[in-house]
Amino acid sequence: MALLSGKKILLGISGGIAAYKTPILVRGLMRQGATVRVLMTPSASDFVTPLTLATVSKHEVLSSFITEDADNPRWNDHVAMGEWADLMLIAPATSNTLSAMAHAKCNNLLLATYLSARCPVMIAPAMDLDMYAHPANTKNIEQLIQYGHEVLPVGEGFLASGLQGKGRMLEPEEIIEKTISFFKPSLPLKGKTVLVTAGPTYEAIDPVRFIGNHASGKMGFALASCGAELGAEVILITGPTALKIDNPAVSRISITTADQMFDAVKKHYPTADIGIAAAAVADFKPVRVATQKIKKRNALSSIALEPTVDILSYMGDHKSSQFLVGFALETENEMEHAQSKLKAKNLDAIVLNSLNDRDAGFAGDKNKITFIHADGRAKAFDLKMKSAVAADIFNQIIQAYA
Ligand code: CTP
Repeated sequence: MALLSGKKILLGISGGIAAYKTPILVRGLMRQGATVRVLMTPSASDFVTPLTLATVSKHEVLSSFITEDADNPRWNDHVAMGEWADLMLIAPATSNTLSAMAHAKCNNLLLATYLSARCPVMIAPAMDLDMYAHPANTKNIEQLIQYGHEVLPVGEGFLASGLQGKGRMLEPEEIIEKTISFFKPSLPLKGKTVLVTAGPTYEAIDPVRFIGNHASGKMGFALASCGAELGAEVILITGPTALKIDNPAVSRISITTADQMFDAVKKHYPTADIGIAAAAVADFKPVRVATQKIKKRNALSSIALEPTVDILSYMGDHKSSQFLVGFALETENEMEHAQSKLKAKNLDAIVLNSLNDRDAGFAGDKNKITFIHADGRAKAFDLKMKSAVAADIFNQIIQAYA
């Protein structure tokens, strides 16, 4: 995914050895979808050529106030460049450039653009270790932070002087990561924990047979991914499914039976902020589980069943501050049944899943839902991919919960 798609970045390069890495930085930013324009201080071109940067950025590279053109010298408008940019990134920022920025010196185009720019500014310093540690530089950096700029840390390692220590410009990949984090939209579920139950449960009859259902777990997994993308820590308690999830913000707990799901829910529900029960828990389990495979010759004609624990009802009964959402799978009197489930299980909302649409439901990739709030408001959505349905569900939750 291009994480900087549509972003306009003005890269200011000053004259330090790390400038030789800037074509890679430009390439990397563009690979993430950004448009990059480059400004250089006159001494930066001792370390990297404007032609290289113009070629990789696909834009003219400017370094002086006037571009000489045989009959038609052109003034380079520093104000317009600052207005164009969503972010001005100064990398590498030498001691000289940092000092000029901190004290409003304006003896080149990069500095004039910086002083007139209204966009946010990010700075990647680069210098020798003693220079970087000098109190004058520390003071300039503190000053620039006070102006509201983001000053990136420096890297540690071999320096051009032959010394080793702190002062290197961050590597291009690291600067690109910082740029991506800078633009990341604020995550509405940051700091929240979301508990999702998913998939079917299997209730053993004997060591080889079980009572189960056709649930695939796809809806619950889509909810877990979506919650994590919105910034939450997700606890996904899932019954048997072949699905995989590799988002580091999702902790997966795999269970088989309703009782095991119940145990995991009891453990994790108290610390959750939002609970979503998307699991298709088996409603009944055999009273007794045979320890050996039941033989055909025994002519078994019935299996005594008892209800499984209603996990969602437990969550409703033990609600502290959680926002609790259940699912209702109905085939008739859908709204009425869903609303009475919402009340009976003490929910804040219920997702009505209709099986009346041919393409929607259990095992498929699509779903058609109506989101019903506890106050009776209901919003019906079109048939969509389950990932899009998950986004709709979280939108509703966030609106009601915020
Ligand atoms: N649920 C649960 N534990 C159960 C049964 C259901 O947590 N033992 C949850 C489901 O995850 C779902 C909601 O309860 O969020 C409603 O499930 P559904 O099967 O539609 O309803 P039931 O309560 O089982 O009632 P019925 O089958 O009679 O419609």
